[in-house]
Amino acid sequence: EQRRSELAALPKLELHLHHEGAAPPAFIRQLAHEKRIDLHRIFDERGNYVYDDFVHFLSVYEAATEVLKSPEDFARLTTAVLEQSASHGVIYSETFLSPDFCGGSDVGAWREYLHAMQEAADKAERDWGITLRGVITCIRHFGPEKAKRAALCAAETAGDWIVGFGIAGDENMGKPKDFAWSFDMAREAGLKLTAHAGEWGGPQSVREALDDLRVARIGHGVRAIEDLELVDRLAEEGIVLEVCPGSNVQLGVYPDLRRHPIEMLRERGVKVTVSTDDPPFFHTTMSKEYEDLHRAFGWDEEIFGSIAAIALDAAFCDATTKENLR
Ligand code: ADE
Ligand code: ZN
Repeated sequence: EQRRSELAALPKLELHLHHEGAAPPAFIRQLAHEKRIDLHRIFDERGNYVYDDFVHFLSVYEAATEVLKSPEDFARLTTAVLEQSASHGVIYSETFLSPDFCGGSDVGAWREYLHAMQEAADKAERDWGITLRGVITCIRHFGPEKAKRAALCAAETAGDWIVGFGIAGDENMGKPKDFAWSFDMAREAGLKLTAHAGEWGGPQSVREALDDLRVARIGHGVRAIEDLELVDRLAEEGIVLEVCPGSNVQLGVYPDLRRHPIEMLRERGVKVTVSTDDPPFFHTTMSKEYEDLHRAFGWDEEIFGSIAAIALDAAFCDATTKENLR
């Protein structure tokens, strides 16, 4: 119990959180009720999200976004997400925001969504001491053309609190190279880059994300462990992995946390960080991830401190923001 509250109180930085995927189910049910949208199919009898595998998870995720229609809805979502994160000791959060879920990636509408979210985030920062930055994300299974529109939205709104560009979605669809145009556009706009890889794809998928998209961070990346040469490359190049252990176990990438490679990657010198991905979908929180890592690998406050330092260093925000978080 003592240990539990100590871990909960540690200051945490989270680099991999999907804005919509962090929506508490009660929040989505409330919006569905207000808008008279029937979403019963995505909830079980206790009101939790239900799905059977990764591809089904993605479709349940997308169904939940149906109730998020206006900038005001996204402002309310932002408040709900940041309140939850802050209650688990998170002081800095980077969330993935997809223009595809906000006004169909029209740049004018996109600005309004961002403005509403920014106001909610400013208030959350004053109330709960949590800082939010946004990483604009295209969705791999929506294809390269939609990704280009997302990249244009990202380039138009870069700066301020929009600090990065990335790609999420089904890693089995398409190739990183198909999205190179979008990543080049985002890079030229001054955005920092990350890509989901090495979650459903093996080492080759991680290599392609590095070589074809030239990202500084990899979302997940854990399956790099299947090729130790790649692991050494990650360590040498200082590539940061946004590891989401609870997500990987829930979705069946690994059968349990003890068999998860996060500790092997860390011991071999890879810069690993810890995040929740889509916390209510995976029945997790940042403090639960910490407790589970403590139990599985004996991680103590010193290791969690070094993980937080890596995350601060790898965060896409500017130097002044980092200084204020130190
Ligand atoms: N979108 C939300 N969560 C995701 C995950 N774990 N992998 C890929 N795309 C996602
Ligand atoms: Zn993710």
